[in-house]
Amino acid sequence: MSVRLAPSILSADFARLGDEIARIEAGGADLVHVDVMDGHFVPNITIGVPVVASLRKATRLPLDVHLMISEPDRYVDLFAEAGAAIISVHVEAAPHLHRVLSRIRQLGAKAGVAINPSTPVEAIREVVDLIDVLLVMSVNPGLGGQAFIGRSVDKVARARAFLTTAGSTADIEVDGGVDTKNAAALVAAGATILVAGASVFGTPDAAEATRALRRAAVPAR
Ligand code: DX5
Ligand code: ZN
Repeated sequence: MSVRLAPSILSADFARLGDEIARIEAGGADLVHVDVMDGHFVPNITIGVPVVASLRKATRLPLDVHLMISEPDRYVDLFAEAGAAIISVHVEAAPHLHRVLSRIRQLGAKAGVAINPSTPVEAIREVVDLIDVLLVMSVNPGLGGQAFIGRSVDKVARARAFLTTAGSTADIEVDGGVDTKNAAALVAAGATILVAGASVFGTPDAAEATRALRRAAVPAR
């Protein structure tokens, strides 16, 4: 399966988001990963619906919106209207997961479920047919620039096996501490979307860092 790169703007300069996204576009990014944090489900507070709406006008890349918020049911309509192509909610924050995933698809977006490092893959069993993207967190959500949890590679492999057994070809997106060192192992394990914040925007040249991540994720034969 091919891999898509989704640089996370969490580590970008928020005063220059348009320029920052132009850099990753030039580097061949496939998606823009937008981390929405509410200071409740996770300790940090980032950005919300108006920023997504502005980004929608600033780039042609699809917006991959990762909701790290409590009660995501209350906000998915607004994020879809703002132009999100993928909306991911955390299983840990969504007691009515079946309903919210159905709603995201009804709104015309791809439905994603994010699982924390401590959450087993099996948590998605009853909603597997409603999932377009399984977002496997490889750090505890809330901050950019954290160290990759090594066990996540095996978790991705188990997630891919779980999906295949369930008859699902959903994307597996890996988020947290992804870089040129672990990208190939994640793709080999079954990841199809790689999120990268610090390893792209924490470098002097985000375009070149995006290209480097592509080379690492898809080694030349
Ligand atoms: C973490 C966020 C991630 C984060 C990834 O809570 O969900 O998307 O921005 O950043 P890095 O790649 O720096 O771990
Ligand atoms: Zn994220």
